[in-house]
Amino acid sequence: MAESMKGLKRTMRCAEVTEADLGKTVTLMGWVAKCRNKGGIIFVDLRDRSGIIQVVTESEGADERWGSLKTESTIAVTGKVAKRGGAVNPNLKTGTIEIIPESLRVLSVSQTPPFLVQDGIDTREDLRLKYRYLDLRRPELQKKIMFRSRIVELVRTFLKNEGFLDIETPCLIGSTPEGARDYLVPSRVHPGSFYALPQSPQLFKQLLMCSGFDRYYQIARCFRDEDLRADRQPEFTQIDMELSFVDQEDVLDVNTRLLAEVLNSLIPVYDELGMSAELRDGVAKAAAEVSENGIERMTWQDAMNFYGSDKPDLRFDMKITDVTESVRGCGFAVFTGAIENGGMVRGINAKGQGDMPRKKIDKLTEVAKTYGAKGLAYIQLKSDGSVKSSFSKFMSDEEMQTLIAKMNGEKGDLLLFAADKFRVVCASLGALRLFLGEEMGLIDHNEFRFVWITDFPLLEWSDEENRFMAMHHPFTMPNEDDWAKIDSDPGSVRAEAYDIVLNGCELGGGSIRIHQDDVQEKMLEVLGFTPERAEEQFGFLLRAFKYGVPPHAGLAYGLDRMVMLLSGSDSIREVIAFPKVKDASDLMINAPGPVEDKQLTELSIAVSIAEEEENSGEEE
Ligand code: AMO
Ligand code: AMP
Repeated sequence: MAESMKGLKRTMRCAEVTEADLGKTVTLMGWVAKCRNKGGIIFVDLRDRSGIIQVVTESEGADERWGSLKTESTIAVTGKVAKRGGAVNPNLKTGTIEIIPESLRVLSVSQTPPFLVQDGIDTREDLRLKYRYLDLRRPELQKKIMFRSRIVELVRTFLKNEGFLDIETPCLIGSTPEGARDYLVPSRVHPGSFYALPQSPQLFKQLLMCSGFDRYYQIARCFRDEDLRADRQPEFTQIDMELSFVDQEDVLDVNTRLLAEVLNSLIPVYDELGMSAELRDGVAKAAAEVSENGIERMTWQDAMNFYGSDKPDLRFDMKITDVTESVRGCGFAVFTGAIENGGMVRGINAKGQGDMPRKKIDKLTEVAKTYGAKGLAYIQLKSDGSVKSSFSKFMSDEEMQTLIAKMNGEKGDLLLFAADKFRVVCASLGALRLFLGEEMGLIDHNEFRFVWITDFPLLEWSDEENRFMAMHHPFTMPNEDDWAKIDSDPGSVRAEAYDIVLNGCELGGGSIRIHQDDVQEKMLEVLGFTPERAEEQFGFLLRAFKYGVPPHAGLAYGLDRMVMLLSGSDSIREVIAFPKVKDASDLMINAPGPVEDKQLTELSIAVSIAEEEENSGEEE
């Protein structure tokens, strides 16, 4: 049944045919999106990556196969471009024209697909991922994948013009501690030894700076064995860069210009690909803002204090207020207890939510609790002028009034308080703020708000490891002014590190690197490395640093996240051609899977599994 395309040449893509081609004979090839017979006239929607065109023929006297074309079959049509006989379709680029076929070839007949290949279907994601190649045929996804390709192209062009060299780094490398969990690859030649897949090209790009390449970039695949979320995949792509002889201002400058360039150049792409005009307008607004005024900056401390997060969503206000001093010495033991324990009391004001029903406030408490809060104290300033609070009985009227004033509380407001250690207060109020922002409709989903977060702490205490860990990575330059405190108060030392945040999502991050071997050695010591272990893990880097190192710095964006946000997608799975699901499996190719015993023997590997775990492939 399937015919060859011998002797035929495709003239153009389906939706590339325009009224300028009227009367011409064209040969189009693509998929049968729809085929219907209406009173002896057959209408076929022919689809390829450019879009859809209608083919119209009378059943009488025509090739009889026109009447029985199965959807998703591939066909080749040669025919004349004509003005539409019927009504114009304003939803199609080709809505004013149609093809009157002269010949048909059926290149491949499709079985009935497991779901309709069209936009807006509510098919379960696991079924769509099992047949991802069909899912990817849907215009929605075609657009996103093409959009992604355009972004990559823009980034490459910009970086090339700025003198960056595209250099590849290896994927089979050694395991290094300090990051997420590694994916390991056993070595056949070295029984019992393992490669690790890179979590990022970090050390290699630093070595390229030592080699004198000056400005490097790579669209790099990274692998991290961590729990997945909507913005996390086990393998993902970074736009990774490193620069020599630069300071923080240089890095932020070139990247602000990179973002401005990408945003500006994307504006027409939304129309070209038929994507949302609201998104396009949002991007145009952000493009103008970033081009004219750059990107605002916020220190990590301010981000945590005001937004409870190092990736603040600035599309709405509702800042956190510290009320510790206002409640110090009050009668409410929850507050005073937290303060005595070295903690604090902070609150947010949910404007206009003072009449929120108790049930909903309980829901807010649940949200706060998932972030470690022991509870959520509240004051309802009801619209009828009455005041209801979970703790008013423990406070004098005067203390209540002071607190309400500190929170700028007005009639109709809901004031929410968390009392705990800094981390818990930030995490819970930060999460509540986001929850309420969404609930109260304060977020414009077509707005793009960028912010640089600077002055991260160098170190982060880990209760689990009972030691300080590098907040970014062990090669991040400490702030010169703070370095003297590295022994006396390591937690207070700031790093020369920065993140770029977009709409509450960490889009990218980077830092100035340590280029002095004594500072690097000290840093590794603080992180608990013995000189022997440091040598074992990072010997190559420490050695390289003894042969002339340029001061260097860099940054990496999560490309998937960039495409997700700019295309208005909810998950990076929508902008990755072949993504994995929450349990890190690929439902289409059934990976990971067992291998033959022979392969294991070759690798000197014996597998022992205590309890067979079921792969559910469940989604978030
Ligand atoms: P970092 O670990 O912050 O920095 O990663 C940079 C960016 O990569 C993205 N990202 C991810 N995207 C999808 N899935 C994941 N699992 C995932 N993990 C990270 C984020 C993040 O901001 N080598 C350093 C960069 C540098 O210092 O130059 C690094 O990898 O958008
Ligand atoms: P209780 O004294 O336990 O009845 O608590 C009184 C109020 O304080 C309740 O609304 C609790 O949810 C709230 N609460 C308890 N612990 C905290 C905390 N750590 N931070 C803020 N509010 C809390």
